[in-house]
Amino acid sequence: MLHLLDHPLIKHKLTIMRRKETGTKDFRQNLDEIGGLMVYEIAKNFPLREVPIETPMGKATGYELDKPVVLVPILRAGLGMVDGIQAIIPTAKIGHVGLYRDEETLEPHSYYAKFPPNIASSKVFVVDPMLATGGSATAAINFVKQTGATDITLVCLVGVQEGIDAVEKAHPDVDIYLAAKDEKLNEIGYIVPGLGDAGDRIFGTK
Ligand code: PRP
Ligand code: URA
Repeated sequence: MLHLLDHPLIKHKLTIMRRKETGTKDFRQNLDEIGGLMVYEIAKNFPLREVPIETPMGKATGYELDKPVVLVPILRAGLGMVDGIQAIIPTAKIGHVGLYRDEETLEPHSYYAKFPPNIASSKVFVVDPMLATGGSATAAINFVKQTGATDITLVCLVGVQEGIDAVEKAHPDVDIYLAAKDEKLNEIGYIVPGLGDAGDRIFGTK
């Protein structure tokens, strides 16, 4: 199911990222901050378990997250969201899926996958700023499912209907969170208005 996170701070920061004159430093900083804000919002629904604790004043009931959290950034651009999310969930473990889109066919090609051992019993967040055709997210979730993980959420900044449809068709059990749903894909598979090539803007490779 699709969830749009309509938060003023996210909108403000996303606007900075969209501007073509925004440089690498500000682009990266705002991406990181939005990643943290999105997961903060999503975490409102995290299940908790009660734990008996003792404060300096006596016994009390405390709460802990019911499951460990694993973040799976899709390389490269997903890396730009990890620090911001780890700032609010410092115990999160990190898996990686390396994928790049063929510029002609727009098909994803994988070059790396590595996951922490507890992933099957964890709450997994697959993160990537861009959901365009949905090919990369679908492939990344396939890799994650091969580990036995079942509690999987996709977190992207900007997406289009085509990508949402592709992920929902392949993985109807995966919730999708977006900060913005944009108009369309252009003829070379870029999101319009979007924010350009996220990987290049994060790493300064163009
Ligand atoms: C971008 C982006 C997504 C993918 C989205 O990565 O970060 O992973 O494209 O497109 P899709 O929904 O059509 O698959 P890219 O392949 O450019 O690799 P990079 O992050 O290494 O730049
Ligand atoms: N990947 C990007 O980085 N940007 C887009 O608009 C589409 C795919």
